[in-house]
Amino acid sequence: MCGIIGYIGNKKATPILIDGLLKLEYRGYDSAGISTLEDTYISNIKKTGRVKNLYDSEGLDNLNGTIGIAHTRWATHGKPSCENSHPHLDNSNTFAVVHNGIIENYAELRTFLTNNGYNFLSETDTEVIPNLIHYYFSKDTKNDDGKFLRAVKSACNDLKGSYAISVISKLYPNRMVVSRKDSPLVVGYRDNEKYIASDIPAILSYTKNIYLLNDYDIAELYNDSVNFYDKNLNKISKDLKNIEWDASSVEKDGFDDYMIKEIFEQPKTIRETISSHLQENELCNFPELNISKDYLTSLNKIFIVACGTAMHAGLAVKNIFEKLLSIPVEVDIASEFRYRNPLIDNKTLMLFISQSGETADTLAALALAKSKGAKTIAISNVVGSSITREADYTIYTHAGPEIAVASTKAYTSQVVLLDILAIHFAEVLGSSASKDLEVLKSNLLKLPEKVKEILSNTDTIKDFAKKIYNEHDIFFLGRGIDYPVAMEASLKLKEISYIHSDAYAAGELKHGPIALIENGITVVGILTDSALTPKTISNLQEVMTRGAKTLIITNQSIKKNNFNLVINIPETDSLISPILSVVPLQLLSYYVAKEKGLDVDKPRNLAKSVTVE
Ligand code: F6R
Repeated sequence: MCGIIGYIGNKKATPILIDGLLKLEYRGYDSAGISTLEDTYISNIKKTGRVKNLYDSEGLDNLNGTIGIAHTRWATHGKPSCENSHPHLDNSNTFAVVHNGIIENYAELRTFLTNNGYNFLSETDTEVIPNLIHYYFSKDTKNDDGKFLRAVKSACNDLKGSYAISVISKLYPNRMVVSRKDSPLVVGYRDNEKYIASDIPAILSYTKNIYLLNDYDIAELYNDSVNFYDKNLNKISKDLKNIEWDASSVEKDGFDDYMIKEIFEQPKTIRETISSHLQENELCNFPELNISKDYLTSLNKIFIVACGTAMHAGLAVKNIFEKLLSIPVEVDIASEFRYRNPLIDNKTLMLFISQSGETADTLAALALAKSKGAKTIAISNVVGSSITREADYTIYTHAGPEIAVASTKAYTSQVVLLDILAIHFAEVLGSSASKDLEVLKSNLLKLPEKVKEILSNTDTIKDFAKKIYNEHDIFFLGRGIDYPVAMEASLKLKEISYIHSDAYAAGELKHGPIALIENGITVVGILTDSALTPKTISNLQEVMTRGAKTLIITNQSIKKNNFNLVINIPETDSLISPILSVVPLQLLSYYVAKEKGLDVDKPRNLAKSVTVE
């Protein structure tokens, strides 16, 4: 969703801010803006559309300040327009603010400010913030150095909802004040230069040294120092964290798009995920967890809660957890879970999966689980993200930054990680024969090579994509472990190619969906479980009889029959097969979207990190 970048230092701020905005493009946005401090005034340029429009705008070269803030806006309150885009200034042009999040009580605050003589130029919730800061600033009769900080703090006290804000003021040409609540914000540290960003990739090429802000923290940045305060303006200290991500991981590295780069990175990312927890001939290792045999024995249920692709990762591992642990597992959509009064107690283990670690619904579901006394484990890709700070334990996927909106490498890393976690719990509990666990572990260790093998021949998928890219409806079918993969494939296709698609458990076809099958329609079948293959083949025969074109993804030796295309993938244990079977389907979505000439990395209406409900 919206993105924030800020700089204070000894260089011209504009190129750094534009570079940061370009790195934040993946979050999804519809306008962009920048403010820099030029001695005693604030320059402000805003444009609708892409960051390129801002970059090309007249006057940008004249912004010479060494302090600045910039923003990409994803419209919530008010249409995408220059007036509504950030930064927003107060009526006296003294304070400029960029804001991520939603101010729920903005209407009330707007009325209050209007009654106190303030005017509003935009339809946004954000515009109340600079004016509130001005209001408190002008009411503060102490003329000491803390006045700016106090005004920001007082304004934040009035805000209900979520915010990450950065504020500059023409009265304080050497500092910047930032704060956050329920919306991410980090401070990047370098000698004589400080950065702020809503997402680490925006500043990774400048610094890997990061301070993480907690809710209500306030930071006051100068080029050579940073002061941190709690919500009562008591000074606090923070540890500087070194981020392992490589700056080149946020570049395209010669690929056309981030999505295809990330698909091709999977042999490496899966290897990284595995190597943190599983070595040949050893027990699985999760030093970040402190989960005892007694605790696991006491469990009556495991919940896995997440949204979108991350939720599909949960569905893909339900079977392995249930089979190895004999504990019932429920997988739930976070936005449903949080409102349905789920049955949770201290005998429930809760796993929350979130690539970004900032998804509002997943965070709310986590808060609910904690309030009911359950132990919580976060599975996330982003160091220091909100979910990792709220959960009892965190396990990182180590997939590296995922820039494309459509999740690919994060999904496979989530599934691999959870498969290893299931084996680890089984080892602690002694709930499965160690011989079976050894076979599973050895199959997991072979996955990176097998993914590489799938990626070594993409021509057949490309050709198939050319045949189907004009279709209006595509169906995905699978049984057992292949059904969640069908769901993930269907989501991937619809989100980047805008083709309507649905996934069905193959056995459900006859109960309704088969009415939609007509001559020429495309049906993709996934078959990786030998026990279920004959049944799914029968369902596919039924759609072929009705004229469907069929693409089969399988690791079984099946006859070509009348299927239009059969893609063979390497064999593995069916419990972990989603890690392989999803790869050709990620490629299919990508090539279909490319054939349609679409921007695969930034699909319409979508944002990488969904920080509002
Ligand atoms: C789809 C996709 C989304 C995310 C979902 C959850 O490709 O990326 O469905 O999986 O928005 O996001 P995280 O994992 O960041 O909580």
